[in-house]
Parts: sequence; C-alpha cells; structure tokens
Amino acid sequence: MPSPLLPDPRTSGTHPLEDAIHARRSVREFQSEPVGEHDISQLLWAAQGITGDQGYRAAPSAGAFYPLETYVITEEGVRHYLVEAHALERVVEGDLRAAVRAVSFDQACITSAPVVFLFTAVYERTCREYGGRGRMYVHMDVGHAAQNLLLQAEALGLAGVPVAAFDPADLSRILSLPEEEEPVYLVPIGKPA
Ligand SMILES: Cc1cc2nc3c(=O)[nH]c(=O)nc-3n(C[C@H](O)[C@H](O)[C@H](O)COP(=O)(O)O)c2cc1C
Repeated sequence: MPSPLLPDPRTSGTHPLEDAIHARRSVREFQSEPVGEHDISQLLWAAQGITGDQGYRAAPSAGAFYPLETYVITEEGVRHYLVEAHALERVVEGDLRAAVRAVSFDQACITSAPVVFLFTAVYERTCREYGGRGRMYVHMDVGHAAQNLLLQAEALGLAGVPVAAFDPADLSRILSLPEEEEPVYLVPIGKPA
C-alpha cells in the first residue's frame, strides 16, 4: 500500500524567528489534544524536509550526507518519514509511548506528549567519508534538526523538549528499528499544559 502523502508544508509564515527563539523553553507537560496532520507535516519539514535543489534539506548536514532518519510516535503507532516523498510510512501499529518512556528513565514527558519525534542515525553515511570524526558530525547534524523542530513547534503554538536520556539498544528493540540505525534523540511535542 503506498504511503499517504503529508499536506504540503508552508515555506513562509508570520511568526517572527526572533519571537520563536526568545519564547522557546523546554516543556515537559502537555495537553492531551493530538497534534494535527498539518502541524506534523510542518514539523517534519522544518526538521528534515527538502528545501533546495539536489535534495538539500532544511537543516545543515556535514558533507550533505544526511545520516538521520526521522520517526513519529503517536497513540496510533510508529511512522517513518519518507523525506523525498514528504510522506509517512507505517512501521508499527499501536501506542508504544509507555514502552518508550520505560526505556527513557521513566520520563513522564514521553507519555504526556501526543507526539514524540525520534531521530535515528546511520553513522556509516557520514563516517565512510570522515572516519572517526564522522560520529561527532552526526551529533551536530541532529542538534541542528532538533533545534529546527523546536523552533517550528514554538511558531505553531506548540512546545517540546529534547530528550537524550534513554537506552538506545532497548529503544531500537522496542521499535524494531533497522540494524544500521541508532536512536540519538527523542523530542516529545504538544500543546503546553
Ligand atoms: C543533549 C541534550 C539532552 C537533553 N536530554 C534531556 C532529557 O533526557 N530529559 C529532559 O527532560 N531534558 C533534556 N534536555 C533538555 C535540557 O534539560 C534543557 O534544554 C535545559 O534545562 C535548558 O532549558 P531550556 O531548554 O528551557 O532552555 C536535554 C537537552 C540537551 C541539549
């Protein structure tokens, strides 16, 4: 079954960047209201969407090797972002947020948030060019992507928190991630409580 396309993201807006930078704060308690499809689309675009010729993306990437994969975890299940198609493919059905919380030192923000974004890294994409330095570059890449996501959330009236305290091996197992991918960052997002 083909993956349903996401709504087109907006490439201009009315929320000043300075306001978003000034107002952004880590938020860990959320309203239960789901984050709608248009907002999910906008958030994915800000994090990893294509914004230029030759596949260049919204966030910079060392050597343009784009080592990150992005997942969306909601009560419905786990979805993988298909960057070129700007679509979500089904990975797992059912709500795994409690299991994700359990391997994230029981951080309540994971189950409080209606949507949790996950960035995974395929280190080899960057390390095959840069060797040992590549791992550091991948971590810089994910910081850029997560900051875009958080500032876009702010501009949409949403908020979130970057979460790195989790067990990557357990998270991979729970989400049945491909072997070459390592989870590097979770970002729960929703309307602040
Ligand atoms: C690399 C990194 C890892 C983080 N991991 C967590 C985490 O596991 N749980 C959490 O609640 N906050 C986490 N944070 C959020 C920080 O606690 C937060 O950014 C910091 O307290 C500053 O607050 P602010 O984001 O509101 O400016 C993390 C932030 C960064 C940059």
